[in-house]
Amino acid sequence: MDEKIGLRDGRTAEVSFLSEKDSTGELLEFINSLVEEDACILYDKKFTLEQEEKWKAGRLEEFKEKQGYMLVARVDGRLAANSGCTRGRFREDENVCLGIAVAAPYRGLGLGEALLRLNIETSGEFFGKPPRNTYLSVFATNRPAYALYKKIGFGEFAVFPKWIRHRGEYVDHVFLKL
Ligand SMILES: CC(C)(COP(=O)(O)OP(=O)(O)OC[C@H]1O[C@@H](n2cnc3c(N)ncnc32)[C@H](O)[C@@H]1OP(=O)(O)O)[C@@H](O)C(=O)NCCC(=O)NCCS
Repeated sequence: MDEKIGLRDGRTAEVSFLSEKDSTGELLEFINSLVEEDACILYDKKFTLEQEEKWKAGRLEEFKEKQGYMLVARVDGRLAANSGCTRGRFREDENVCLGIAVAAPYRGLGLGEALLRLNIETSGEFFGKPPRNTYLSVFATNRPAYALYKKIGFGEFAVFPKWIRHRGEYVDHVFLKL
């Protein structure tokens, strides 16, 4: 994987699979910046370097076992976004779950949309056959993500009501599939 995405500001994002050579410190900075802004993601506490090491090792193991992958996008050499894909286990192994996050300075440039489309395309090749279900989940309050998923063609199929504690309230967890 060595793809390029042209951004609205004229810059280019370079996309590759997460690999051993991606710095754990930089991955840590990326996830902790999202935790710090209290973004609409599951994590509510900053990670330590040790935890991030474990997370990275887990994703690399998953890649080796063909259970999933993580795409990382770099702009001017800096980590700007990532988008993962994990398939279910056993009887659920034809269903894949996607995720995406773009660092705050790189939002609104078309990176999230292009990276998610690339992820969907990649999943069809990576697992040997196109997934039966491609799905993701979103906090009901996450308007940018919800709009992005709708634009790409995802439709709602389940809602876990008042499921997630976020910014002082309980919000619905919405599941969408292609
Ligand atoms: C959601 C997220 C991935 C969008 O990435 P992005 O690179 O900013 O999105 P893009 O610039 O590619 O925009 C693509 C589409 O998304 C929607 N969108 C993006 N930002 C939006 C905003 N602020 N308000 C409303 N819709 C928005 C629009 O439909 C947009 O299409 P358009 O440009 O034709 O209007 C990004 O905001 C993000 O990572 N947020 C924090 C983490 C997160 O919420 N991850 C998703 C968890 S489910």
